[in-house]
Amino acid sequence: MTWWRRGVIYEIYPRSFQDSGGDGVGDLRGIVARLPYLRWLGVDAIWLTPVYPSPQRDFGYDTTDHTAIDPRFGSLADFDALVAQAHGLGLRVILDYVPNHTSDQHPWFRDAAKRDWYLWHPGDPPNNWISVFGGPAWERDPDSGQSYYHAYLREQPDLNWRNPAVREAMLGVLEFWIARGVDGFRVDAMRQLLKDPLWRDNPPNPGYVPGMPEYDSLLPVHTADLDEVQEVVAAMRAVIGDDRLMVAEVYAPIERLVRYYGEGGHGAHLPLNMHLISTPWDAEAIAALVERYEAALPEGAWPNWVLGNHDRPRIASRVGPAQARVAALLLLTLRGTPTLYYGDELGIADVPIAPHQAVDPGMARDAVRTPMRWDATPHAGFTTAEPWLPVGEGQGVAAQREDPRSMLALYRRLLALRRGSDDLAEGGYRTLHADDGVLAYARGERTAVALNLTGEPRPLPVTGGIVLSTHSGGDGAVLRADEGVVLTI
Ligand code: GLC
Repeated sequence: MTWWRRGVIYEIYPRSFQDSGGDGVGDLRGIVARLPYLRWLGVDAIWLTPVYPSPQRDFGYDTTDHTAIDPRFGSLADFDALVAQAHGLGLRVILDYVPNHTSDQHPWFRDAAKRDWYLWHPGDPPNNWISVFGGPAWERDPDSGQSYYHAYLREQPDLNWRNPAVREAMLGVLEFWIARGVDGFRVDAMRQLLKDPLWRDNPPNPGYVPGMPEYDSLLPVHTADLDEVQEVVAAMRAVIGDDRLMVAEVYAPIERLVRYYGEGGHGAHLPLNMHLISTPWDAEAIAALVERYEAALPEGAWPNWVLGNHDRPRIASRVGPAQARVAALLLLTLRGTPTLYYGDELGIADVPIAPHQAVDPGMARDAVRTPMRWDATPHAGFTTAEPWLPVGEGQGVAAQREDPRSMLALYRRLLALRRGSDDLAEGGYRTLHADDGVLAYARGERTAVALNLTGEPRPLPVTGGIVLSTHSGGDGAVLRADEGVVLTI
C-alpha cells in the first residue's frame, strides 16, 4: 500500500492541538474532536509526537513506558477511539517511536538486572562525547560511581541496541502498536542508535566557529550515522512491513540521508528530508538542493519534503509572512510526500515566550510549540484553562475559513489541487529557471510552478494558464512581489 506517495502528512504536537480536559494541555480526545477539520483541510495522515507516559523533561521523548498512553493525554481506549475515528474519516495515524533512549525514570533503567540495556562505563567518562543539547554526554551516577551515555538530556539515557534483549523489546513495541491498528511510525533519532563499541573520541570539527552549538564542535563520527545503523533500520522495516509507513528522523547531508532508504528498498520508506529548513531562501540554492536530492535518490526511492517541525523555527518566522505563502506552494508542489507542521497552514509564526513562561529553557523550541488557534474565544478555543504555553496573536481557523485570501484557504486550495493532479502528485521534476529571485520548475508533462522569492515584481519565466496563485487578481504577465503560481503548460 503506497497511499503515502500521494498523501500529505500533518504533524500534530499533542500538547498544543486541542485540550478537552480543561487542564491547559492538549489531549487525545481533543485531537479526535478536530479530526473533521483535518479531513476538511485535505491532509491524509496525522503524525503524533510522543503520547507515552513521560516525566515530560523532553515532552514525551523521555518515555517511561513505550506501550501505554500518558494519562495527561488520555488512555489506551482513547487512543483506540482516535484510530477508529481517524480511519472512519480516511485519515491514517502515524506514531512517534522513540527507540534511542528512555526516560531515566523508566523501569528498565532502574532495574539493576538490566544494566546492560544501557551504556554504562565504570568510573569517569571514557571519552569526549557531547550531548546534542550541549554539555558532556556522560552522566555520573552517584550511587554506583559509574557513568552512562545520553545523546540528549541526562534524563534520557541511551539504550544499548547491541544487546539482543533491547532489540527484541523495542521491536516488540512496534508490534504492539501495529496490533492496535496504526498506519506507520516516525522513528526518532534514527542515526544515533549505535555508537562506536570502542568508545573512541570524536574528532574536532574543523568547520567549527564560536557561536555554533557546542555539539558542532566535534564531528560525531563515533556517535551518529554509523554504517551498522542500517542493520537496525532494516530490522525495524522488517517488522513494519510494506503495509505501513516507516518515516525516519535523519538530520544528515543528502548523500548520507538517502542511505536510510536501505539496500534494495528495505529501509525507511521516507527518511525525513529536512534540508528545506536549513537551505537559504534563495532560488539558486533551492534549485540546487532539489536537484542534488533528486539525483541522489536511489532507484525506486520516493522523495519527501519537510518545511517545519517541533524543533525548528517556524517557516513564517524564517521567511516572513508574505514568503510563507510562497513556501506553502513550494512544499506542496515539489515531487514527494510533504510533511506539514500544525499551525503552518494558518501562518503561525514563532510566539515570543517571556522567561517566566518558558518550559524548555535555552532551547528556543517553546516558540514553535504554542497552541493551535481555532477561534476568537479566550485562548483561541484551544483550552478553557490557562494554556501551557501562550497562544500568541493572529487569526485562527474560524476566521481564516471565511476569508478566501487567508493562508488557510491557500493551503486548502493547494491540497485539493495536488490531490486532483497526477502531475503534482507523481510527475517528474525539472528546473526551468533559477535566477534573479525566481524559481520555476515543471512537474510532469503539463504543470509548472513559478515562485517569486523576492518582494519585487519579476517577469514570469514560464508561459501557461494560471490555475492557482498565492495572490488574487493579476493578469498573469508578471509575478507580483511574493507571488507564486501553478500553471498549466
Ligand atoms: C528528536 C525530536 C526532539 C527530541 C529528540 C530527542 O530530535 O524531534 O524533539 O528532543 O529527538 O528525543
